[in-house]
Amino acid sequence: MTAADPAGRDGNPSMSASTGAPGGPSRNRRSLTHRVRHALRHPKHVPAHARRVARDTWLQLRHRDHIEYYRAVMAADTARSPEAAVGHNPSVEKWERLGRMQFDYLVGHGLQPHHRILEIGCGNLRAGRLFIDHLDTGHYYGIDISPAILMEAQRTLVREGLQSKLPYLTLVADLSFSFLPDGHFDVVHAHSVFSHSPTYVVEQCLEHVGRVLAPGGFFDFTFGRTEGTEHQVLHEDFYYRTETLIGLARKHGLSARFMDDWEELPHAQSKIRVSVRGERGEGTRGS
Ligand SMILES: C[S@@+](CC[C@H](N)C(=O)[O-])C[C@H]1O[C@@H](n2cnc3c(N)ncnc32)[C@H](O)[C@@H]1O
Repeated sequence: MTAADPAGRDGNPSMSASTGAPGGPSRNRRSLTHRVRHALRHPKHVPAHARRVARDTWLQLRHRDHIEYYRAVMAADTARSPEAAVGHNPSVEKWERLGRMQFDYLVGHGLQPHHRILEIGCGNLRAGRLFIDHLDTGHYYGIDISPAILMEAQRTLVREGLQSKLPYLTLVADLSFSFLPDGHFDVVHAHSVFSHSPTYVVEQCLEHVGRVLAPGGFFDFTFGRTEGTEHQVLHEDFYYRTETLIGLARKHGLSARFMDDWEELPHAQSKIRVSVRGERGEGTRGS
């Protein structure tokens, strides 16, 4: 958690800075006014934020490339606490709750055991462990840029006794999906990944995701939403306008819609669903 970013890594526990409701749009957390107000309201957050600013400056000097930079952030955070590295709060109970929320949402939207999932930014399988358990053997594919968190993902698999479900866990350097087959995945899922991604990463994903989606499949992603100026806090947290992301999806032949029912859940990020234009993009194959 930072003084400038009360929503923290996962955007989970805080209420919207502007609306007071979970899932509402965020104010510009980078603005001086917001930061001063937040520091006055939460003086205890100031030292942690100062540490994060120092780390950001140091890592930026060492890694000009965003992926390299974010890998280093994840390595440092994972060493401290794998639960905190993928979410705001290191509590195991919150880690489980956030994973369950993602899982229940997709099951509520028709996810069935025969479906195939690609999870982008799978982390330490907070939701992945539930997908793996639910899906047929070999139907879960998790990718991440962080070797450190993928090692933790393996630990989660062992702890949960999920080895026989043979999930794929793969380290990636970009989101071109070039090593994955055409039309394979019924669901592509990215929770709290674009909230840490600059526009070029988001756009690369939207450019290529249509190729790996099965007919009738969809891609769900969460994002830190703002209704004001798009901005970032340090090089870790990014806030986008809904129209920008829907526009980027359209540019790459996809249709996109804002998921209103996700807003009802206690999570500070919003969700967009993308499908290949001309398809229904709602029901997954056979559901
Ligand atoms: C906040 S964590 C969320 C992890 C998981 N989705 C969950 O809900 O528990 C973000 C994850 O995305 C990964 N990540 C960030 N940028 C990525 C990118 N461009 N491609 C793949 N993974 C990425 C990070 O390494 C991290 O594991």
